[in-house]
Amino acid sequence: MRYNFDEIIDRRNTNALKTDALEPRYGNPDLIPMWVADMDFLSPPAITNAIIERAKHGIFGYTCPSQAYYDSIINWLERSHNWKIEQEWLEFIPGIVKGIAFVIDCFMTKEQKVIIQPPVYHPFRIIPTLHHREIVNNPLILDAGQYRMDIDGLRKAITADCHVLILCNPHNPGGRVWTRQELIDIAEICYDNNILVISDEIHSDLAFAPNKHIPFASVSEKAAQNSITFMAPSKTFNIAGIVSSFSVIPNKELRAKFQAYLTSSELNEGHIFAYLAAQAAYEHGGEWLSEAKDYLWKNITFVDEYLKTNIPQIKAMLPQASFLIWLDCKALNLSQKDLVSLFVNDANLALNDGVMFGAEGEGYMRMNIGTPLANIEKALHNLKRAIDTKQIH
Ligand SMILES: Cc1ncc(COP(=O)(O)O)c(C=O)c1O
Repeated sequence: MRYNFDEIIDRRNTNALKTDALEPRYGNPDLIPMWVADMDFLSPPAITNAIIERAKHGIFGYTCPSQAYYDSIINWLERSHNWKIEQEWLEFIPGIVKGIAFVIDCFMTKEQKVIIQPPVYHPFRIIPTLHHREIVNNPLILDAGQYRMDIDGLRKAITADCHVLILCNPHNPGGRVWTRQELIDIAEICYDNNILVISDEIHSDLAFAPNKHIPFASVSEKAAQNSITFMAPSKTFNIAGIVSSFSVIPNKELRAKFQAYLTSSELNEGHIFAYLAAQAAYEHGGEWLSEAKDYLWKNITFVDEYLKTNIPQIKAMLPQASFLIWLDCKALNLSQKDLVSLFVNDANLALNDGVMFGAEGEGYMRMNIGTPLANIEKALHNLKRAIDTKQIH
């Protein structure tokens, strides 16, 4: 290994949401933070060095994206996901959650509804709701300990006023890398019903072999012509604070409309370090990412084995991508309030409450394992001690 993912780096007092919002969110600044979806590892040195070198120049005036920035994304998508895109399909956006809000504003009337497949990343519900759009839920099906899409359920759930479907590809919190068939089915149904697909592919670079991420827009012409894909180097290279997301829109009319919307408020103007960091990541981050994924997979395996041996009441849903583990705690037979209290007050851990992701998350907690193994060992020991002390069987 060239990079040291075991190094424990104190993130407190750096304005890291994960550490410095523990007190307001959980009432205790000393919990082990395993919630916000960023990692506790140093980003690839190539990114840090690019930022330092640029900062040394000392003039931070108005900035435009370079050709090298676009090329780095285009090459990365072809190399990593076998997806050939055109430069004109790309547009900077200041965050994927914001991007979802922009699509709602740009493409939907107030009366139109948004389809989501819970349990799912909570802003998929919260953002449309805050924009006064009704949500139509098509819950995922739990099948042999993994989620799959309810394709028949989707056909039944659709009404004439459904206009956007937000797809989490790969899935958070379940970690699924969707099959080509699942994506083709979504593409077919949505195209035929005039439902625009937002494919949020922020976790796409973190698929674990043999799983392979499939960009939604690449599965068929119907998918390509009826989708807006959002991607970012933020999860992949641990640079969420830099904010350097982008949209990919193959369809000319959709693209023109979205571009006009963004341009009218200059929402597609990136900042100096966003372009620079994304380019450095995509040009030079490959080796770091490969080692990071190996490390993450070892952490996932550790959690799984530890639970099986020591806390069999909790089952880990093994993610096919990314660093979030969906923990099935139903066998503890606790109310959601008591489950959260067990983690927070007894085990000293800050995880995400499963119901954040929808009612289907009842009995679950989401654990972020993007941290040195020593933190995970400590967290699991805490959890075991808490459960043993309370004599929960
Ligand atoms: C599925 C998904 N989409 C989007 C985001 C956040 O993206 P952004 O910071 O670009 O808004 C996250 C972060 O956890 C996520 O899991």
